[in-house]
Amino acid sequence: MTRRFHRIAGAVLAATLLAIAWSGCSKSSSPASSGPGGPVAQSGKKHLVVGFSQVGAESGWRTANTLSIKSEARKRGIELKFADAQQKQENQIKAIRSFIAQKVDVIMFSPVVETGWEPVLREAKAAGIPVILSDRAVKVSDDSLYKTFIGSDFVEEGRRAARWLAKKMNGKAMIAELQGTPGSAPAIDRKKGFEEVIAHYPGMKIIKSQTGDFTRAKGKEVMEAFLRSPEGKKINALFAHNDDMALGAIQAIEAAGLRPGKDIIIVSIDGVRGAFDAMVAGKLNCTVECNPLLGPQLFDAAEKIAAGQPVPHRIVTKEGVYDQSVAKQVIASRQY
Ligand code: AHR
Repeated sequence: MTRRFHRIAGAVLAATLLAIAWSGCSKSSSPASSGPGGPVAQSGKKHLVVGFSQVGAESGWRTANTLSIKSEARKRGIELKFADAQQKQENQIKAIRSFIAQKVDVIMFSPVVETGWEPVLREAKAAGIPVILSDRAVKVSDDSLYKTFIGSDFVEEGRRAARWLAKKMNGKAMIAELQGTPGSAPAIDRKKGFEEVIAHYPGMKIIKSQTGDFTRAKGKEVMEAFLRSPEGKKINALFAHNDDMALGAIQAIEAAGLRPGKDIIIVSIDGVRGAFDAMVAGKLNCTVECNPLLGPQLFDAAEKIAAGQPVPHRIVTKEGVYDQSVAKQVIASRQY
């Protein structure tokens, strides 16, 4: 009886030890284990889940921006929930609410317009989910509703465009302006910066101004209307808030029998590949860079925030100005 008891007890002990050893093995071969606040990867880093609400796909700039965000998330093993708002604020609000319901770790978004975000940002804050603004700013009464805003200084971009034009035109120009999406930070700020500089030149006047919604098709349509208008013949310069609208306007100018880049001097903003091609062809005169490759900076910030580390409340992207004189030299090195 005692011998039998010892045999059974020995077998039970061996089975238990085997089970413990097995569970240890299977744990170490799994990529992530559970920890407080979500799964923890082998590296000790939390497996991050990020929700991103993008404005849309309105321009070459936006396409490059989306690619940068998606590829950087993939590179870092971050789970990205990506939503395209098709230039509609209500779609962005819906997407942000759905990210909150899914309890993502960080929410990022590029706000289509500046105002109307306070309620949904309060919901994110109440749920304890940090928010990062990408590319465009919001107007809110409480800046703690977002952790950081990473993107360009749009006012400075407008100033740079105006300074370049003032120099090129010796302070005298009858300007047509193609504005970006109404109510968006880049449209508001670029106009502000541009007007601030030309105010110092009595010979520089904006004689036509309308939105082209940051798209090539609208840029072409609005430029055609400008050229047909009674003031059309006076236009000798164009300021387009982005390259896509300038490229559309170039088609309209050519269709009207004029030479873009000569009869009408054109300055735009972004620095996309199409703008460099147009400069090399002599049809666009200058592009002020607005860097869309924000993926690395955005996810650096997201990882820091998730790890409880501080990040600056504003991170400004460094950018340059390129005109026809350098276009040929730099075109091959452009990444977007
Ligand atoms: O917010 C950045 C702007 O949005 C870019 O200049 C424009 O091309 C885009 O649509």
